[in-house]
Amino acid sequence: MNNKYLNIIEEYLPTLLPSDDCLEGSVVRSMKYSLLASGKRIRPTLLLAFCEICGGAVSSALPFACSVEMIHAYSLIHDDLPCMDDDDLRRGRPSNHKVFGESTALLAGDALQALAYQTMLSDTSLKDFGVNAAKAAAVLSRASGATGMVGGQVIDLETEGKDPSLDVIKEMYLKKTGQLIKAPCLMGCILSGADDDKLKAAESYAENIGLAFQIVDDILDITSDEKTLGKPIGSDAENKKVNYVTKLGIDKSKKIVADLTKEAINSLVVFENDTDFLKQLANSLSERLY
Ligand code: IPE
Ligand code: IPE
Ligand code: MG
Ligand code: MG
Ligand code: MG
Repeated sequence: MNNKYLNIIEEYLPTLLPSDDCLEGSVVRSMKYSLLASGKRIRPTLLLAFCEICGGAVSSALPFACSVEMIHAYSLIHDDLPCMDDDDLRRGRPSNHKVFGESTALLAGDALQALAYQTMLSDTSLKDFGVNAAKAAAVLSRASGATGMVGGQVIDLETEGKDPSLDVIKEMYLKKTGQLIKAPCLMGCILSGADDDKLKAAESYAENIGLAFQIVDDILDITSDEKTLGKPIGSDAENKKVNYVTKLGIDKSKKIVADLTKEAINSLVVFENDTDFLKQLANSLSERLY
């Protein structure tokens, strides 16, 4: 599908990185390598789309959208490290640690996380959004931390080689992937001052597409090829990950993705503005090839 927000995200992202003309330039080049590599930019797109349907100013919300992408890029750098999934390819290029070394990759992830908060809480963001800027930053911090993405990554690593129940796997998905999909949806609403009904609807949309997103990711790890996916296939089997696909098979997993996508789209009824873009996005993510 045509992502109407992609160009403004791609143009804005590079402007947020510091100069690499300094003694510590290697870490800036490492941040840049991963942040500006060709990702789908789903998370910043969700933030801008929710901001727009709630009547907010898309251009002012851009720093928040790009901050979510920074947290996501940091999570991918760390996810690929030898102590985690130990994957050597990401976004069609060698993983960050293969190019910059493990210590610089680790620090680039840390620095991207710090840069996200610096970006969201800049004087301009505070001037544009006041207390809502702080509220949006708080949502992202909770979604990224020990009870969010990091927590999900812990469950993922600690269940390797074991046989967790489907409930545990679902909780792992909702945290490791769902939280960084839900956060931008809520942040877009918060920045535009949306009411509780809209926040609840955004939450339901996000939880459904978030779960579906990780199930599709796990299917693609089996059915895709490295060139299309831009990351190694068979990584989950190699790491003895147990997931929806290993538990239920591909066909049943695809059916769950279709049901979750329908549920997500149904959640959008409460918005008065045109939700076609978010509907198409949910459908296109469920059918994606990479
Ligand atoms: C990959 O996310 C990590 C998961 C949560 C499955 P994406 O599939 O959004 O990766 P990019 O940003 O397009 O590279
Ligand atoms: C991704 O799970 C979760 C995060 C990066 C937070 P995966 O480990 O399945 O993601 P990919 O497949 O490496 O992108
Ligand atoms: Mg992983
Ligand atoms: Mg991985
Ligand atoms: Mg995966």
